[in-house]
Amino acid sequence: MPTQKKQINDAVSFIRTKTDSTPSVGIILGTGLGGLVGEIHIDTVIDYSEIPHFPLSTVESHKGKLIFGMLGGKKVVAMQGRFHYYEGYTMQQVTFPVRVMKFLGISTLLISNAAGGMNPHFAKGDIMMITDHINLLGDNPLIGQNDEDLGPRFPDMSEPYSRELSALAEHVALDLGIRLQKGVFVAVSGPNLETRAEYRFLRGIGADVVGMSTVPEAIVAAHMSLRTLGFSIITDECFPDALKPAELDEIIKVANATEPKLTAIMKNVVARL
Ligand code: HPA
Repeated sequence: MPTQKKQINDAVSFIRTKTDSTPSVGIILGTGLGGLVGEIHIDTVIDYSEIPHFPLSTVESHKGKLIFGMLGGKKVVAMQGRFHYYEGYTMQQVTFPVRVMKFLGISTLLISNAAGGMNPHFAKGDIMMITDHINLLGDNPLIGQNDEDLGPRFPDMSEPYSRELSALAEHVALDLGIRLQKGVFVAVSGPNLETRAEYRFLRGIGADVVGMSTVPEAIVAAHMSLRTLGFSIITDECFPDALKPAELDEIIKVANATEPKLTAIMKNVVARL
């Protein structure tokens, strides 16, 4: 059996000793965005450290737990704490939990992150629905031998973020009276933030926001034909000609302050799936 498949099987078998839940929706919670967990009627919590082959989260603002329960009347599995490429993990490690969630039964993946806003129409504290992405990580989780049981060698990327789910999210935001921006997310490796010249470049190639996550997970989700919906919270304004120094405290503060709105959108989207 190919190694990757065996590792997925090991993780799934272990999880099956803790829960027989078959979630239909997987949720990845970004920096400062763990609050959605408070809305889940939790039945099982598993520390990442217990699960075979799961990487350990190294960033302090991430907790590292897989949470099973009910949200909006649906069975969900949520990742409280995600893995970033800049932590030194391989792209396969970063995306391993998405593979595992697929084999636990999910068909839909919701992803959130904190991002820097480069579109001048976006303000700090806005929520942007990701309509498309640009991968500037310089790496790809699908490099290496392809396991056809997981997905095709050359996966289509014409719709990495489901149009159907995006339309639903727009309806939900409208009903809740929450302004929802839309745009393109570009992923960079980090961990440093960008120079003015880099922000100018990233804006110039067609991106609206920039962040250090999400794209690996979205690529693997597309590989396995999951329906994906992604949101960025704009935590800082990255206008190259008026750039202020970015403060991590401030980024987390804005993410925390905006989170209730994103939580409301995500919960209602799940309820209406
Ligand atoms: N750049 C990259 N990642 C980020 C930023 C940024 O400005 N803000 C929040 N995450």
